[in-house]
Amino acid sequence: MHRRLILAFLLLLLPVFAAGRRTSFNSGWRFLKADSENAAQPAFDDSSWRKLDLPHDWAIEGPFDVSYSSETGGLPISGVGWYRKHFTGGAAGRHFALEFDGAMSNSTVYVNGKQAGGRPYGYSSFEVDITPFLNPGKDNVVAVRLAPEPESSRWYPGAGIYRNVWMVETGPVHVAHWGTYITTPAVSPEQATVMVRVEVVNPQKTPLTIENEILDAAGRSVAKGAGESASLVVSQPRLWDLNQPYLYSVVTTLRSGSEVLDRYTTPFGIRTIEFTREKGFLLNHRAVKIKGVCNHHDLGALGAAVNARAIERQIEILKEMGMNAIRTSHNPPAPELLDACDRMGILVMDESFDMWKIPKKKNGYSKYFDQWGEADMRDLIRRDRNHPSVFMWSIGNEIPEQSRSNGWEIAKMLTAIAHREDPTRPTTAAFNDWTGAIRNELAANVDVPGFNYQPMSYEKIQREHPAWVIVGSETASCVSSRGVYHLPVEAYARHQSKQVTSYDVVAPPWANCPDVEFDAQDRLPNVVGEFVWTGFDYLGEPTPYGRKDDWPSHSSYFGIVDLAGFPKDRYYLYQSVWSSKPVLHLLPHWNWSGSEGQAIPVMAYTNAEEVELFLNGKSMGRKKLGIDTVVIPVNQKVSPERKFTSKYRLQWDVPYAPGTLRAVGYRGGKQVSSTEVRTAGEPARLTVVPDRKSIQAGGQDLAFLTVRVEDKDGNLCPLADHPVRFTVKGAGKLEAVDNGDATSLESFQATSRKAFNGLVLGIVRAGTVTGTIDITVESDRLRLAKLTLPVTK
Ligand code: GAL
Repeated sequence: MHRRLILAFLLLLLPVFAAGRRTSFNSGWRFLKADSENAAQPAFDDSSWRKLDLPHDWAIEGPFDVSYSSETGGLPISGVGWYRKHFTGGAAGRHFALEFDGAMSNSTVYVNGKQAGGRPYGYSSFEVDITPFLNPGKDNVVAVRLAPEPESSRWYPGAGIYRNVWMVETGPVHVAHWGTYITTPAVSPEQATVMVRVEVVNPQKTPLTIENEILDAAGRSVAKGAGESASLVVSQPRLWDLNQPYLYSVVTTLRSGSEVLDRYTTPFGIRTIEFTREKGFLLNHRAVKIKGVCNHHDLGALGAAVNARAIERQIEILKEMGMNAIRTSHNPPAPELLDACDRMGILVMDESFDMWKIPKKKNGYSKYFDQWGEADMRDLIRRDRNHPSVFMWSIGNEIPEQSRSNGWEIAKMLTAIAHREDPTRPTTAAFNDWTGAIRNELAANVDVPGFNYQPMSYEKIQREHPAWVIVGSETASCVSSRGVYHLPVEAYARHQSKQVTSYDVVAPPWANCPDVEFDAQDRLPNVVGEFVWTGFDYLGEPTPYGRKDDWPSHSSYFGIVDLAGFPKDRYYLYQSVWSSKPVLHLLPHWNWSGSEGQAIPVMAYTNAEEVELFLNGKSMGRKKLGIDTVVIPVNQKVSPERKFTSKYRLQWDVPYAPGTLRAVGYRGGKQVSSTEVRTAGEPARLTVVPDRKSIQAGGQDLAFLTVRVEDKDGNLCPLADHPVRFTVKGAGKLEAVDNGDATSLESFQATSRKAFNGLVLGIVRAGTVTGTIDITVESDRLRLAKLTLPVTK
């Protein structure tokens, strides 16, 4: 009987832990896009405010307007916004905290009318202890005021509580916020030493035991060790690697006698990293060339509002290209990005700042650096240091202090913080003024100096600094618009269409097309690798159309993938160099009516040794990669003649006749790949292709639908710009639309979108319950398409 009572008691305790110490605090908020007196007060009447769930980005709702500046996306990223939420919470003797993964920006958090916390930097995660402000068991109100400023960013930051918010409930004795630190100081095939450090909040000095247990990915216990600082041994460890990103977790249990006071889970991975002058970067003792991309944090049509699936999709698309690393330019990322990289085997350069003390923008982070710089750097590391994907801490991007003789001081200070908080990873910084960064000893004050757009200087830097391991922290910055081809193939500063040719020959004056960096990286195997600017197009910074009279250009042209997630031609150029699968891609499209008989340059991006091209069955010649080179335009730093001979592409000049271009790739004389581009007929129908066969109920999951304008034979109509209407019914709703056109002022929240070069994207959000979503896409004079998408448990 006695035993059964104990069992019943234990079962009673279970829900507490089953519910988790940390629960989502995203639902049931009210929002006002304006300032309002007394909005912090609990009795304030917010019933007229808009109801919404977080994460929320008010700026993405638009409208677009040139007065907001195209540099930040032409969207309303500044002004005051308030969020309020009523909740019954609190309990005597319990501890409550709110965790904000990020709030854009200058947040002040009030609980029951009292100021409880906040943070200027919109990318920093922060915790607010709300225990002293709560009325246990009664109605409580949390109110958050945000005040993002204009001229505060060089790209689209978003605005609002754009990341997740969590309620953390514990007893007074608990593991501190980000209170565990796991390292793997010794790893061999036989065993790994896992060091666990635990920081405990224990105001009354309650006598405690601290247990740490390592679970494998299947939840089996593989090691145990007690104490605030414990050394555990895992036998035959499974390593975290790019192809097999194996994850363990440490479960830390605080006990007083038999009573469990807190239980805290920390996922981690076992892996080794080294940066060597001889072989570059080593992961688990194997040389890995960094084939990285820089990405800003926005998710295109979704704006800055975090969504785990949208992040995962970006990584899936880039990973398929051969990408193995992401630089979180130029700020702390959403935690969901690091979780995804841990899970998917992607390395992360985790970056802190775009500015220190010297402003790049009038209201930029430099306003806050003196007061917050140390805390923001420290918190980034404490939050992220258990992620196996993170392999470098970047202390800044193109920091103007590079050109100041005392610039080294802050570099030294930030590196010292990083070394103190995490001695296991190197610091880096992205220098564009490379001579300044070296002269003023910023480069000497990071572990792995990073250089932006300096492929021609890597050799000299290495020669003059034989101890340095260096990385191409930002490379290329080629610009293009998906599916746009301008003839003749030439570099230009701007084009009247406000688009950029997709022949991949245009880059701003400081930058280059991919080929130049490929060449430098191939010649210098001990350069750690590169981070291309950028993987995905992003909102804002519409270079080369950033002037006011360039409106309506308002999003970037730099992406290898467009804003909607459709790969541009460049995707296949990278894939041909970065991946080992057979790649053969032809450009441009083959719809040049009116140009019959004129020579159209046709390029192949391939990793085949030889390619033969046919037009309507007739050979246009067989060419050898690396031998039959293509001359592309480059900036003056690379060559005074502004010409570069690329061995990474093939080109034929083909007199245009409608029909079929066919390419066949060979290796060792054997056919390994083939592809075709056909002249499309009149637009006849729509097709809709989902990125997955089903999505999950729960209100978070998204389906990304590619809508194609096709001719009657299923060829993509490469010039089609038909407006496409979406009707979505059933267990989900239309969340946003896009087409990747950087000049389109159509709303992302509309139910229709014009095709851009034949393609439209629809994003559908699953509802909370299971069922099916019925989707219809229509356009006048085209056959419509329907799709039924299951929403599963
Ligand atoms: C770099 C900068 C990036 C972006 C890029 C465009 O200099 O670090 O943030 O502006 O140029 O090429």
